[in-house]
Amino acid sequence: MNERDSEAVAAMLRGRGYSIVDGEQDADVILLNTCSVRDQAEQKAIGKAGYLTSRKRKHQPKLLVGIMGCMAQNRGADLLDQLPDLDLIVGTQKFHHVPDHLDNLIRTLEGQGPKPSTLIDLEAEESSQNTIREHNKEGSISSFVSIMQGCNMRCNFCIVPKTRGKERSRPIEHIVEEVEELVAAGTKEITLLGQIVTSYGRDILKFKDKKSPFVQLLEQVQEVKGLERIRFTSPHPRGFKDDLIEAYRDLSKLCEYVHLPLQSGSDRMLKAMNRPYRVESFLNIVNGLRKAAPRMTFSTDIIVGYPGETDQDFQETVEVFKEVGFDMGFIFKYSPRSGTVSAELQDDVPKEVKEKRNQVLLDILQEQSMKTNQSLVGRIEEVLVEGPARKGEGMFMGRNRGFRKVIFAGTPRLIGQLVPVRITEASVTTVKGELELTGMEDN
Ligand code: 5AD
Repeated sequence: MNERDSEAVAAMLRGRGYSIVDGEQDADVILLNTCSVRDQAEQKAIGKAGYLTSRKRKHQPKLLVGIMGCMAQNRGADLLDQLPDLDLIVGTQKFHHVPDHLDNLIRTLEGQGPKPSTLIDLEAEESSQNTIREHNKEGSISSFVSIMQGCNMRCNFCIVPKTRGKERSRPIEHIVEEVEELVAAGTKEITLLGQIVTSYGRDILKFKDKKSPFVQLLEQVQEVKGLERIRFTSPHPRGFKDDLIEAYRDLSKLCEYVHLPLQSGSDRMLKAMNRPYRVESFLNIVNGLRKAAPRMTFSTDIIVGYPGETDQDFQETVEVFKEVGFDMGFIFKYSPRSGTVSAELQDDVPKEVKEKRNQVLLDILQEQSMKTNQSLVGRIEEVLVEGPARKGEGMFMGRNRGFRKVIFAGTPRLIGQLVPVRITEASVTTVKGELELTGMEDN
C-alpha cells in the first residue's frame, strides 16, 4: 500500500515537472512515506528523518524534508518536538496535495512567499480514495491498483483504522479504466490493493446474484483484454464466502495464491484480539479454497506475544501454521500502539519469549517454503517474465501463478510474456529452471 501511495506521489510530482533522482544525496526534496503498524517502524522513520533534517541544518539549508502517510497521521504536529526542522507533514488522505504543498514551500524558499514554517495537512478528505491513480509511465509488467482506502474492522491490536480512516471505495468503472490504461501501457499482472479488499464496495454497491461487490469487481477485471493475471492484498478471512471461493474456480486470471492473515491459531487469542473467526472456520476456508483450486498456496500474518499469550496458545498457532502449510508469511512481535484497545492491556509477554516464538515460526516457514519449492522441481510452470534477474549474466526473473520467484536463462524479448519453464533446482526463496519449448502442463 505504501509503495503504491509513494509511486502515485512520485508520478504526480513528475507530472508537475519534478524529476526523480537515483540517490537521496542528489535530491532537493526528500519525502518519507511511513508505517505505524509497529513502534519499530515509526522509530526507524524518525531516525531517518532526524538524519536528513540535521543534514539540512548543517549543509543544505534549501533541502526540503517531509513525512507522509500513517506516522504523519498518527503523530501530526507532535513530530515537531523531535523533528523541528521538518518542512511538510502530510496525512493518509492528502497525498494528492503534495505537489501543491511543495510548490508553495519552494516559492517560500525562493523568497516569494511568507516566512517558512512547517506545512501540516492531516484532515480527512472526502473522495480521497479516488486520488491514488497516477502511475509512473514506464509500463511495468506487474502493477498495483488501489481500490479503496480505510478499514472498518476493530482488531484490538491495530492502529490502521485510526491512521487510514473509514472504508471508502472507488467505483468499479474507475478501477477497470485504470487497469485498461495500465494494460495498454504493457502491464500483464494487476494486484488490487486495499486494507481489507474483501470489504470492497460495501459502502457504494449492493450484492448482485449473491455476489459481493469485491467479486463483482474481480469479474469485471477478468474481462480486461490483454491482462493475464489478477492478484489482491490484503483480504480478511471473513470475506471468503462461497462467491469468492468459487471465483478461484471460475476466473482464469485469478492466481492461486492468497495472503490470508491468521494472526493466531488459538481461539482464545483470536477472541482477545477481536478477530471475528475461529480456527475451525479459518481451516474451512483453506480447505474450500484448495478444493476450488488444488494448487492454492497460502501466506499469512501472525502476531506473537499478544497480551496474555501462553505457551499453550502459541503451540496451537504452531499447529495451525503447520496444518495449513503456509510457505510465505510475516511474523510480527506484538507492539502496543497508542489509541488501540490492547494498548490498555499489560504487554506481559517478555521480549525474549516474543523473540523465541518469532524464531520458531520463521524456522517452520523456511522448512515449509523449501518443501513447496522442492515439489516444483521437474514441473513445467507458467512464468510471467518481469525482467533481468539481480544476479547472473543472461538470467531473467519471473513468477509462477503461486507467486514463487523463478530464475532462468532467457532473452530480453521475453519480458512481459508468459513462458513455460521447467523447474530444475529449489532453494528456500527461489527456484531455478530452463525455458521449455514444448508447452505447459495442465495446471
Ligand atoms: N503489533 C504487532 N503486529 C501488528 N500488526 C498489526 N498491528 C500490530 C501490532 N500492534 C500486524 C498484523 C497485521 C500486519 C499488517 O501487521 O499481523 O496483519
